[in-house]
Amino acid sequence: MMGRCNGCAAWGSLVEENVGGGAAAGRESRALDAAGDPGTRGKALPLHAIPAASAPRIETGVAELDRVLGGGVVPGSVVLLGGEPGVGKSTLALQLAGRVRQGGGAVLYVTGEESVEQVRLRAGRLPEVPGDVLVLSETRIEALAAPWREVAPQLVVLDSIQTLHTDRVESAPGSVAQVRESAALLANTAKAAGTALVLIGHVTKEGVLAGPRVLEHLVDVVLTLEGERSHAYRLLRATKNRFGSTQEVGVFTMEEAGLAGVANPSELFLSERSAATPGSCIVPIVEGTRPMLIEIQALVAPAGYGTARRTAIGIDDGRVALMLAVLDRHTSVDLVSRDVYVNVTGGVRIAEPAADLALALALASSRLDLALPQDAAACGEVGLGGEVRRVGRVDLRVREAARLGFRRILAPAGAEAPHGAEVVRVASVADAVDWLRRNASPQARQSGSNPP
Ligand code: TYD
Ligand code: MG
Repeated sequence: MMGRCNGCAAWGSLVEENVGGGAAAGRESRALDAAGDPGTRGKALPLHAIPAASAPRIETGVAELDRVLGGGVVPGSVVLLGGEPGVGKSTLALQLAGRVRQGGGAVLYVTGEESVEQVRLRAGRLPEVPGDVLVLSETRIEALAAPWREVAPQLVVLDSIQTLHTDRVESAPGSVAQVRESAALLANTAKAAGTALVLIGHVTKEGVLAGPRVLEHLVDVVLTLEGERSHAYRLLRATKNRFGSTQEVGVFTMEEAGLAGVANPSELFLSERSAATPGSCIVPIVEGTRPMLIEIQALVAPAGYGTARRTAIGIDDGRVALMLAVLDRHTSVDLVSRDVYVNVTGGVRIAEPAADLALALALASSRLDLALPQDAAACGEVGLGGEVRRVGRVDLRVREAARLGFRRILAPAGAEAPHGAEVVRVASVADAVDWLRRNASPQARQSGSNPP
């Protein structure tokens, strides 16, 4: 018994692990008996003798999911689908199961978390899920061997890996040892049987979990479903993909009938934008290879007593502090003793420095009470000297802004003007603030004008 870890000093973080028996046995025995003998195992082959398996894919028919997977699910591959509770993992997995079933493949949906009735209830809301998707309520992995053999499924979904346990390890379900051993057993089974396997894993806000993180090395694809539960929109990212790029991002909205793909995310994010108001700036961000227009809002107000408050949602606090310091030092915008609130609309999280310029403009716009013109957007990284630096894929960003009707795009040097729009080159934050003063929307406070 040891309460505290000698290594990291964390309390209660030690997990008992049984290193005898199953875990110590070879890889071969760590698969369930669900398939015949794979002939080539254990034999070394010259590269040219290995058949060039252009991984066949099961197209899921969920366009946004196929995009992230790189064209579909590869048979025999293991996909880990992680995300916070309630974000929509079970819904997405069930929709995927439904599509594969529609395509003619047998599907086994194993639920360890919810009852079969609950799964049925959810399936009732999803029009693409046919009635003959097989659902099994089970948490013991060894019990899956028989149905797996009988059904010979093209796809098996396990919801969730944290609820499963194998007899080979004695620790509790959800513990690191259990999750790791269970997943290894299942992954080997899937490989041997040529079944595509989707493991659902919960991730907590801090990203810690006895689950996904410890599994990343033994699965082929790691997908993360992100989004605020209070907002409809969800982002699906691949953080690891042995069969495709990790640059693609899928965008969904959570609807009455499950997750619906969004082909034009910018339009979605701009749809709720109000008329020109001070403190708002549009930035074209890039997620993977997709440009999206996002609104950054800032509110600068006189501080009450004590220290000024700084609150940022959807963007790093450090980034906000940096922009405040830069504005203070390199422009005439006075931000001393002001409360500052920053919000990124739509529940999006911006992690790109390319949003710096838009953030600085939103802050200046609120402080000066000058609204940016409705047809203006901005992107660019801002350095500590107040200089505006180049950003990656600037042409992609500028084109997307132009496509959605933005006619003036503030950007660092290097951006080419797209058809029908003008690129306003700004070398520094001071330039950008000057531009704002000269071009501020005259009816700053009046609403009713149409967004671009
Ligand atoms: P769920 O897939 O159960 O999340 P997870 O498995 O990640 O914990 O879905 C969670 C939320 O999605 C739930 O609050 C209800 C909502 N939802 C919809 O809005 N529409 C739907 O069609 C479905 C099935 C769920
Ligand atoms: Mg669930």
